[in-house]
Amino acid sequence: MSKSAPVLVGMDCGSGNVATVMATSDSMKVRLTPSYVRHLPGATKGTDLRNMWITKGDNGSDATYAVQSKAINVVDTRTKDYQLSAACRVLVVNAISSIGLAGRKVIIADTLPADQFYDDNNSLNRTHIEKKRESLKMAVRNANADIHSPEIIEVRIMPEGVTAFNAALYQQDGSSEPRLEGVSDVVIVDIGRYTINYAHIDCDTQDLFARATSDQGVHAFLTLLKQLMIESAEDGMLAIPAETIRKMTLDDIDAVARAGYYGSPIEALKDKRIPVIDVVKAAASTYVEEIKYKLSVVVPQLGNAHALIVVGGGAHYVGGLLHNMPNYIADLHDNVIIPHQPECANARGAFIALQAEFEDEELTTEGS
Ligand SMILES: Nc1ncnc2c1ncn2[C@@H]1O[C@H](COP(=O)(O)OP(=O)(O)OP(=O)(O)O)[C@@H](O)[C@H]1O
Ligand SMILES: [Mg+2]
Repeated sequence: MSKSAPVLVGMDCGSGNVATVMATSDSMKVRLTPSYVRHLPGATKGTDLRNMWITKGDNGSDATYAVQSKAINVVDTRTKDYQLSAACRVLVVNAISSIGLAGRKVIIADTLPADQFYDDNNSLNRTHIEKKRESLKMAVRNANADIHSPEIIEVRIMPEGVTAFNAALYQQDGSSEPRLEGVSDVVIVDIGRYTINYAHIDCDTQDLFARATSDQGVHAFLTLLKQLMIESAEDGMLAIPAETIRKMTLDDIDAVARAGYYGSPIEALKDKRIPVIDVVKAAASTYVEEIKYKLSVVVPQLGNAHALIVVGGGAHYVGGLLHNMPNYIADLHDNVIIPHQPECANARGAFIALQAEFEDEELTTEGS
């Protein structure tokens, strides 16, 4: 295979994270980076920074954006316009470049949340889908002339629920998920950073029966956890000063919850760590009640669907994937499926669809 053959890339440009998936010669390469991008007023030429990109801004003239690792002065990714914005386009191009595809021809599949892929009558919102495709095909160049952008030659846009389903069809070892054999009528709950998307879909036809979006994404869980940590500290149940917890950002709280302790990650200092898992459990069990209620409103006949698929980074907290915490959603349906690496499921599912579409074409994998 030649280096000029296009590479397939699955993407999910969420409001919290950009997930990128491509094939290597023997497995899938997955990358997750935070959706932090900052608009820099004024042109920036001749810089050495590889994270600075220039593209047509949302007002029509050239604009410069920097992709960052911290949430300082970053673009608000929670707005409806974000998916069509220059900021989103820059994050996509930066992610493709960072996965080793700078200067390469790529065919990408990206997602749209179901509430943007479908219109109010649950029909395809073709205008919006086309706008996202066009946006991703617009030129983005690096501020450093030596760094070549990937050349996006084709773009597919997929609805997020369908991509989650595609991902759930395969287990971590690549074998088929037996619990989804012959299944197409599924309910998908995608617990993202800011939003939770609920969708009841026929994944064969992409027909949407019901959908809803709530703003109770992981940030709502983290807000609750922070509050519970402050209360525990004030009651003397948690040995962290309440004032210290008050000053923590939700990203700090997220890091503590994922680690399971407050303290240093350095092994030699592990005796000084303060465990927080009991508070994380209490927050998760309360948080899940909200999800259960909303789900019962969106899909009152949940039992008639063939499976409930739960994806998004929030699945780690509610689905028992962290610190041996209980799986709080196991009893929601007979067939609850949380695909591996649920925070990357949509990007993986977009990639799987591309692979199916282009399986006969001459394509490149990494290393070829
Ligand atoms: N192992 C993990 N990897 C990634 N995210 C995790 C993990 N465990 C918990 N999370 C939480 O999940 C959040 C990200 O979820 P996800 O990537 O699904 O959001 P998103 O798709 O960017 O957001 P949205 O769908 O609202 O646009 C993180 O901010 C983090 O709080
Ligand atoms: Mg998401």
